[in-house]
Amino acid sequence: MVAALNDSDSEDELPPGWEERTTLDGNVYYVNHYTKGTQWTHPRTGRKKIVNGDLPPGWEKCVSDDGKVLYIDHTNRTTTYTDPRLAFATEYREMSQVIRQRFDGSSTALAVLHGRDLRNKIALVTGANTGIGYETARSLALHGCEVVLACRDMEKANESIKRIQQEKETANCVALKMDLTSLSNVREAVEQFKQKFKFLHILILNAGVFGLPYQLTKDGYETTFQVNHLSQFYLTLLLKETIQNSDNSRVVVVSSESHRFSSIHTLEDLHQLTLSPPAYKYWAMGAYNESKLCNVLFAQELARQWPSVSVFSCHPGNMVSTSLSRHWWLFRLLFAFVRPFTKSVQQAASTSVFCATAPELEGLTGSYFNNCCRCQPSNAGLDPALGARLWTLSQDMITDALKREKDNYGEK
Ligand SMILES: NC(=O)c1ccc[n+]([C@@H]2O[C@H](COP(=O)([O-])OP(=O)(O)OC[C@H]3O[C@@H](n4cnc5c(N)ncnc54)[C@H](OP(=O)(O)O)[C@@H]3O)[C@@H](O)[C@H]2O)c1
Repeated sequence: MVAALNDSDSEDELPPGWEERTTLDGNVYYVNHYTKGTQWTHPRTGRKKIVNGDLPPGWEKCVSDDGKVLYIDHTNRTTTYTDPRLAFATEYREMSQVIRQRFDGSSTALAVLHGRDLRNKIALVTGANTGIGYETARSLALHGCEVVLACRDMEKANESIKRIQQEKETANCVALKMDLTSLSNVREAVEQFKQKFKFLHILILNAGVFGLPYQLTKDGYETTFQVNHLSQFYLTLLLKETIQNSDNSRVVVVSSESHRFSSIHTLEDLHQLTLSPPAYKYWAMGAYNESKLCNVLFAQELARQWPSVSVFSCHPGNMVSTSLSRHWWLFRLLFAFVRPFTKSVQQAASTSVFCATAPELEGLTGSYFNNCCRCQPSNAGLDPALGARLWTLSQDMITDALKREKDNYGEK
């Protein structure tokens, strides 16, 4: 049974090396000429298509000796593998692929993983020493996953590993020093990671800061922006081959519903000074909202650029009692006040863990989740032009910072 979806536009364009073909019964499939593989889902949108109706006048369908479907255009005396009706193919989603919601806002990360054996998986979680990141790392490790806790403070990271291993002696956890206020530190951490690991099946970009007073990082960018987005964007790109070489790999970007309050709506709003503003334009809450929109846009664009990897962004929960509010007394008070009514930290880790492991999410790359449920991010979060612009801006900012670092090093 199939349900019609809205037609899509430019995102429908195939990446280089891909070709669209149809089966005898009109189902569209995708051929990757580089890997020689085929798949039913569109490599960018993750959706399926079907062609219906008759062939145009003068066309005939036949099957070659090796089983391939061919189309003969008798008028122009040409033969092709391309179904002439492909231009009018309609998207659909099988009803069986509509996610049956198994979990909700009250589910815990451990409930999401109940019965799962993750012994063949390697995960890296940023900001895993406390809060939602710790519960994410702990839940994965308790289910056999080898977990790398990427943290800026090794003492805290090792203390967290000790706590996990007190619960399960055989839990396979490693600490990796990574300070997200420094791009060179991120690069060093990735080099260290690659010396030990050849694969990375799950990358969870969880680390985040909120409510910071204005401060610049070593690379010269506003700290909330660099920690919440730029450094984790860089981390992901540096891990590209490792992730792409791993089976069924996934990237989860922990965003927030706050992304809806970002002041970035159009391309005109998105430039270096809105992402990393000067002190006189800085508002801590605004910086957090922009960085969380960056998380959603990055996930969308990464899904488009890396079709072989499943990429998701998510919201863990509202005002969950973690140390996120530590920089602002007003928020500490507010978080403490609402604590009885909000998710526990185990519950808040459930959506990240769901996005990282749930089998029913195959083919849904680029989606945004809240309460273990797929939902629509803001219109800005869905805009592919904003995603593409953020990608190039982020790359340029990294190149500039690394060049500045090299020049400074040369002067010494
Ligand atoms: N709590 C909520 O209500 C809520 C709501 C929506 C979204 N979120 C998102 O959920 C994620 C996790 O937040 P949380 O609530 O668990 O906050 P948290 O308890 O404060 O944890 C944040 C983690 O990020 C790490 N971190 C901060 N700066 C870093 C840096 N420069 N380098 C490396 N790691 C750094 C922290 O390490 P240290 O301990 O060393 O500082 C900590 O491990 C964040 O992305 C946040 O935006 C949280």
